[in-house]
Amino acid sequence: MWWRHNRSSAQGFSTQGILQQADPRCWRDHYFGLPRARWDSLEGCAFWITGAGTGYGRVIALALAASGAAVFLTGRRSEKLQETLEEGASLGININRCIPIVADITSESGLDRATNLISRHVTQLHGLVNNAAMPQPSAGIQPLTDLSLASWNELFNVNVTAQWLVSKAAMPLLFNSDSIRIVFMSSEAGWASTPGFGPYNISKSAVNTLGSSLAAEWAGHFLNKDIQINVLVPGEARTEMNQGSTVSPYSVVSMTLALLSHPSGGPNGCFFHRDGRHLEFAHSPAYMNDLLIP
Ligand SMILES: NC(=O)c1ccc[n+]([C@@H]2O[C@H](COP(=O)([O-])OP(=O)(O)OC[C@H]3O[C@@H](n4cnc5c(N)ncnc54)[C@H](OP(=O)(O)O)[C@@H]3O)[C@@H](O)[C@H]2O)c1
Repeated sequence: MWWRHNRSSAQGFSTQGILQQADPRCWRDHYFGLPRARWDSLEGCAFWITGAGTGYGRVIALALAASGAAVFLTGRRSEKLQETLEEGASLGININRCIPIVADITSESGLDRATNLISRHVTQLHGLVNNAAMPQPSAGIQPLTDLSLASWNELFNVNVTAQWLVSKAAMPLLFNSDSIRIVFMSSEAGWASTPGFGPYNISKSAVNTLGSSLAAEWAGHFLNKDIQINVLVPGEARTEMNQGSTVSPYSVVSMTLALLSHPSGGPNGCFFHRDGRHLEFAHSPAYMNDLLIP
């Protein structure tokens, strides 16, 4: 796959018990690897998942709904959001907890409408998964200096600027909660400098810095809040943007839920891989505690 190039700077520390091949039909048996108390702690919480009509966003939204959380799903295509609900129903998940909201995350007015709609249902959000993104334009090798400005702007609008806009838009609802969890979906591309894949690599490296910068700022300013903002490398799976993979997108659920359900005192501004590994990025060292044994 085109993003399986340079290895990320993975270190030796991993969270044990992360499930990457859990059958989603058996969610009541394995809770995606979460200890029962952690699974139960998600019940009644509210989360916003971007890009929830397909791929990773869809399966994360459904796993959260299965736990009893309220889930707000955004994407531009209502039919895809509807398909997510249908998949949830087929897995025996109570999809009444899933609220689909059509929204373009590059539009501030669209995000205003989305947060107004969310506010009609809940007074606070406990978490946000900044997941939506687009692949490199023309989906292939392209020297950095051959890319048009329009394509560059489109990619960075969706993959970087929109993650910032969504975080800003969600902030008032997140700060109505005492504990705040955000997961930024990055990629191994964020650690790579492979020729021909520069634009996507740069966008994901920027996501890494956006996530860790937001983590440092919010934790530094809002000392009375339990803030855990982290970056996750989801690895490859078969989704709309990666039709070549045979890996189930449900492979990302276990680690995502381990981060979203973490009790106070957990990681902030840290980097993880969906397989349980704790990563370094730039000057950020790997987090050295098991996410499932706090
Ligand atoms: N799959 C992999 O192998 C892989 C590997 C590494 C990293 N990732 C990362 O994983 C995350 C999820 O990707 P995926 O693989 O699940 O791909 P995907 O199925 O293509 O999902 C991308 C989602 O983003 C939404 N989206 C795109 N532009 C949007 C916009 N302007 N406004 C609102 N929503 C928008 C799309 O929905 P609409 O088109 O309906 O808006 C779609 O649901 C991304 O951050 C990606 O970079 C994936």
